Amino acid sequence: MNYEINEKRETGRISPMIYGHFIEHFHRQIYGGIFDPESPLSDEDGFRTDIIEAMREIRVPVLRWPGGCFVSSYHWRDGVGQQRQPSFDKAWRVEDPNTFGTDEFVKLCRKIGCEPYICTNAGTGTAEEMSDWVEYCNLEREGKYAKMRIANGFQSPHRVKYWSIGNENYGAWEIGAKSADEWGRLTAESAKMMKHVDPDIELSAAALADINWNVNLLHSCGQYLDWISIHQYWDMMPEVHDPADYDACMAYTADIGRTVDEVRGILTAMRLEKRIKIAFDEWNLRSWHHPNVHTVRQGRTREDYILPRDKNDDNSTYTMADAVFAACFLNSMIKNCDIVGMANFAPILNTRGCIYSYGGGIVRRSTYYVFELFAKHMTGNAVDVWTDGGSETMEVRAKNGRTQSVAVIDVAAASHDGKLSISLVNKHRTKSKTVTLRVPGVRGRAVMYTVNGKSADSYNDVGRDEIKITERVVGDVDGAVTVTADAHSVNVITIER
Ligand code: AHR
Repeated sequence: MNYEINEKRETGRISPMIYGHFIEHFHRQIYGGIFDPESPLSDEDGFRTDIIEAMREIRVPVLRWPGGCFVSSYHWRDGVGQQRQPSFDKAWRVEDPNTFGTDEFVKLCRKIGCEPYICTNAGTGTAEEMSDWVEYCNLEREGKYAKMRIANGFQSPHRVKYWSIGNENYGAWEIGAKSADEWGRLTAESAKMMKHVDPDIELSAAALADINWNVNLLHSCGQYLDWISIHQYWDMMPEVHDPADYDACMAYTADIGRTVDEVRGILTAMRLEKRIKIAFDEWNLRSWHHPNVHTVRQGRTREDYILPRDKNDDNSTYTMADAVFAACFLNSMIKNCDIVGMANFAPILNTRGCIYSYGGGIVRRSTYYVFELFAKHMTGNAVDVWTDGGSETMEVRAKNGRTQSVAVIDVAAASHDGKLSISLVNKHRTKSKTVTLRVPGVRGRAVMYTVNGKSADSYNDVGRDEIKITERVVGDVDGAVTVTADAHSVNVITIER
């Protein structure tokens, strides 16, 4: 199989924020996750230092918080100040102690070295509450909320640049769900007030691949927006925890680019594609498992709707299928980097995250290593990649039992300061593939980094490190390089002059 990479044909600037992440007040992401004051592994602020270090190693560029469904009945003022009262989280039906709020979140982001990205409550919240939150975070001292922040010990503004209005308010499961018309009006008034407080914020609003919803939103609020937010999970398991097997996960890779294509089409039709970027600010191969909550009949016992959430913590779920899918997703974002400016893995920690934490430490799940490679090497400008022979396909059995034809190999390329990086994914469960990468005019030393385990079903767990990154010097390259990509592997080949 041959692929042509034309380093001179740049297709867009890759924003580092496509390697972004999300963390929600759900299960053990915040409390008992990153925020665990009682843990001997936590610092003076109650943050797990081993988790922060792992986040720094994958160069987290932006972290979205506090939700997700949680946010649609969250009131930010409950989470600031000296006297925090617990709230009942009506989304996930648990008590939130409110000991982790805005100030803690911003402090955490400064320790990670990432941009904070706040998603506001457009479910039960109001335009005023959202803009008051911007006052609290970003005004020097004008008005009561900036003065409140100062009284809480933060003299300087938090300078939160990224904000979004609402979560998935289009969905019946969301508290405070809205019609398309209601959404257009609420977002316009909220955006207006938020930008009146701080015209320098970059603002997004919840959207999806739906023409009616997006046209209403963009007609009413487009003049205020810098981003439009979309979410997608493929292996849907909210009610029944039945993870798709490797081949079924590969079937999902055929669908990765569809949502971006559809939203790009709407933006283009409305002549907004040069001004508004896509924030894919929740994505994961696997949906979260939380039965009997996104339903009319609510669970009544802990066994009904609380304890099943622990099934998200089963590390054997997160195999090379998750790593291969994540690499294909990031390749797609790279190829669409002219319009996708941010993507947030949902979530970063526990649940379906790339990091799993427990009392004694952390587990780097398979997807962690994909972020480690991509955030470090797949940077700069995306460059054109094509195959002259037609890419090999394979037939895989999708979760619905149907046969799906998918490309075996997935390739993207990036050029940065004289370094050419090529991400090469072999989705085949059992067969390695030899690929020739033609790079006309490129000479240099090639190194191949590979994320893999012994089998497609390998996974990492406490005391089990099956999946890791291996490094191999390929040798000197002059115009082309031939490599063998092992079965079910994620590879990045770097060529440095
Ligand atoms: O399953 C978790 C939920 O997925 C997030 O809270 C929400 O944004 C999305 O529906």
